[in-house]
Amino acid sequence: MFKESLAFGDVLLSPQYSDITSRREVSLESALGNLKFTIPIISSPMDTISEVKMAQTLGDYGGLSILHRYNSIKEQVSLAIDCAGTMVGAAVGTSGDYLERATALKPHVDVICIDVAHGHHLLMRDAIKELRKVVGTEMHIMAGNVATLEGYEDLCRWGADSVRVGIGGGSICSTRIQTGHGVPTLQSILDCSSSPWAGTVAIIADGGIRASGDIVKALAAGADFAMIGSLLSGTDETPGEVLTGTRGKYKTYRGMASAAAQMDWRGRTASLEGISTTVPYKGSVESILYELENGIRSGLSYSGARSILDLHAKAKFIKQTASGQMESSTHILNR
Ligand code: XMP
Repeated sequence: MFKESLAFGDVLLSPQYSDITSRREVSLESALGNLKFTIPIISSPMDTISEVKMAQTLGDYGGLSILHRYNSIKEQVSLAIDCAGTMVGAAVGTSGDYLERATALKPHVDVICIDVAHGHHLLMRDAIKELRKVVGTEMHIMAGNVATLEGYEDLCRWGADSVRVGIGGGSICSTRIQTGHGVPTLQSILDCSSSPWAGTVAIIADGGIRASGDIVKALAAGADFAMIGSLLSGTDETPGEVLTGTRGKYKTYRGMASAAAQMDWRGRTASLEGISTTVPYKGSVESILYELENGIRSGLSYSGARSILDLHAKAKFIKQTASGQMESSTHILNR
């Protein structure tokens, strides 16, 4: 039989008795090992999302950015150096120059993120082992992406300190269309959080988060952080020019496996598992972070939870019907 698999839009959290009188009473603290954060948000290692400005602004806000790896080692190190004073992570792959890259990044970053599309892979096992020799036991190694409990547990056993969970759910992903593979991100989180490793090896919900409500659902399902791309796209803090068209100002947002990104960085295209698109220009990311933070705080208080751990314990999911999904979206009838 087919296993049932739930996406963010299929579920809601049932409101519960709360004695929280102000959103300020809610703590959104989360941790990657010894690294502490005051909001559970990490920006994606994508060349239209995470460079210095994003890292500094999100870092000041209490979250984390992972500097993308679609550049030379020298360029990525220089981005990391420019983030001095802010906690920051940087992405590497599992082949090519990844060990040299990690060695050069090590003095300037707090997290090394092994960033590949299919992380439940032999190359990942070897990469974690080799990277550990290069970066030492103190460096936090984030690895991914995986979509299954088996994938999460293997990465934990292989030595990852945190795991990015979610395959094919990203707003610019076409992996599921191209390959027929993937798992709705919420289901992956629910599956992985049933592991005894959860609580020790942080789970990062990655891909398909459309609003603060999805972050609350991800945290309630057992994630420790949400990694986001599209929600932060089109802002002043993302790399790239603000362009003006007939419908106003916009910026580019693209999947790292899109034809455009692959041509820019490799000079050729292999499999196309992402798209490139434009998004409306949104101004500073600060107002977006402010809205997200307030939405998450409010979300915790609806479950009567004062912390993310409290939410893990208290959350009660219900499944929505198609009519429920309709009612859950804004649906005013203009007569
Ligand atoms: P959102 O939904 O926040 O998702 O825009 C961002 C996440 O999408 C992943 N990513 C990709 N996945 N093809 C994919 O299948 C791609 O080209 C691609 N680029 C990014 C990545 O996990 C990111 O954090």
